[in-house]
Amino acid sequence: MAKFYITTPIYYINDKAHIGHAYTTIAADVLARFHRMRGDDVFFLTGTDEHGSKIAAAAEQAGKSPQEFCDQMSAVFSELWDALNISNNDFIRTTSERHKKGVEKFLLKLKSKGAIYSAEYKGLYCTGCERFMTAKELVDGKCPFHQKRPEKISEKNYFFKLKDYLEEVKKRIVNDEIKILPATAKKETLGLFKQGLKDFSISREKVKWGIKIPFVKNQVVYVWVEALQNYLTGVGYGYNEKKFDRFWPADLHLMARDILKFHAIYWPALLLAADIQPPKTIFAHGFFTINGQKMSKSLGNIIDPNEMIKKFGTDGTRYLLLVQFPFGEEGDIKANKFTELYNAFLANNLGNLVSRVMKLAEKIKNQRLEAKNTGQLEKVVFSSWKNYDKNFINFQIKKALDEIFNLVSNLNVYIDREEPWNLVKTDQKRFDELMLGLLEALRHIGWMLYPFMPETSEKILKQLGVWEKEKTKQLKEIKKWNVNSVKRIKKGKLLFPRV
Ligand code: MSP
Repeated sequence: MAKFYITTPIYYINDKAHIGHAYTTIAADVLARFHRMRGDDVFFLTGTDEHGSKIAAAAEQAGKSPQEFCDQMSAVFSELWDALNISNNDFIRTTSERHKKGVEKFLLKLKSKGAIYSAEYKGLYCTGCERFMTAKELVDGKCPFHQKRPEKISEKNYFFKLKDYLEEVKKRIVNDEIKILPATAKKETLGLFKQGLKDFSISREKVKWGIKIPFVKNQVVYVWVEALQNYLTGVGYGYNEKKFDRFWPADLHLMARDILKFHAIYWPALLLAADIQPPKTIFAHGFFTINGQKMSKSLGNIIDPNEMIKKFGTDGTRYLLLVQFPFGEEGDIKANKFTELYNAFLANNLGNLVSRVMKLAEKIKNQRLEAKNTGQLEKVVFSSWKNYDKNFINFQIKKALDEIFNLVSNLNVYIDREEPWNLVKTDQKRFDELMLGLLEALRHIGWMLYPFMPETSEKILKQLGVWEKEKTKQLKEIKKWNVNSVKRIKKGKLLFPRV
């Protein structure tokens, strides 16, 4: 059985989760579920990034100890993932003992390999980004992301000899041993090498809320360096070698463009220095705006996924976020169109198809009929599967989702044309045949929906009476056309009540 290890970034918990975090996590869940459906041994990891001055400051503002604050905020994230039906296999927290253990092991390894050295550091530090910035990056002396002047910092730090590994990292990216996707992200990464990349400091003297460096007093590990290691510690590095050997290297690190440099350059370099294989693929999707504007506290346009769930349900929210723009491209979330989209695609198109087919199916007389004239439907469904798979393989998950809804629309048009409500009065046999074909097509749609809308998928397949029988089947089996696979249908409640 092929293994598939997929990760999301671990999110900062200084504030509650928003639809930016939800977008990546839902996308990762879709890919994880698709791979499970194909029969892969999937390990899907997400978690929270809990150290550093930004979190310590937020805790202080909340009047809590850092750990207390982290416990509370980390739970806010994991509860949201439950509400969104995210099927992660584990949830890694950087304040956990297992993470600390792995990080210590990693740092000792870097030291023993001579990959770090100690030096004086002077620089401009942006707490919002949790990183040093160059003067060139600033706009009017301020960080362009946080509109704040960075702090001048001078301290003795440990540095990582990034320069020693750059050539090797670049070579592996160029020849796709480390695949950076989409192509625009690979181009962006290769462009970064040209700008000149400096050794970076991996420890902090002034920051107190962090993991202690095992071989020096009064310094903690730079939050980004230990955060990246969650991808190792989440699968056992430092405490469960068997599990680690099973799942590492990661098959896919998923994130947005904002943190591509850390993942595509720094992370592989650190891993090479520690004699660990770099990840196979890094996919950076677009960083989106909302109704054309950057999502920010000051603009007051941050959307809480919980609010969306209340209005559109779990699957409605998953759909509305993923359908907005092609996966991997820069995009805009048209929040002002959520209701319109929900009503058009979920209530009217998909919801309507399911309820009308189920209602008409009650009039079938001969369930055991060997329906011969469903060839046209079979072809349409087969071609949808083909496009669906192709899009998944290319990480085009929005296109795969659109493919399902094209099929749904086509079936609605087909029903309008065939007018089964008239046919049942004139030609029962032909009606039965038509309906058995439609039920079978609906079964295929139910499965295609599984990675995207797991709850809806299950509801449809249960109405068709095939869920229990098929949930453990291989996709190859599921995809076979068989007009007699649907046996005991049971009409259910409306899937998507209009909003
Ligand atoms: N803690 C670091 C990541 C460490 S991973 C080893 C971090 N956290 S974060 O909370 O800021 O999350 C950034 C990620 O959240 C993005 O890479 C992306 O996955 C998601 N997004 C946040 N806002 C987003 C958009 N506006 N658009 C798309 N994705 C967004 O960086």
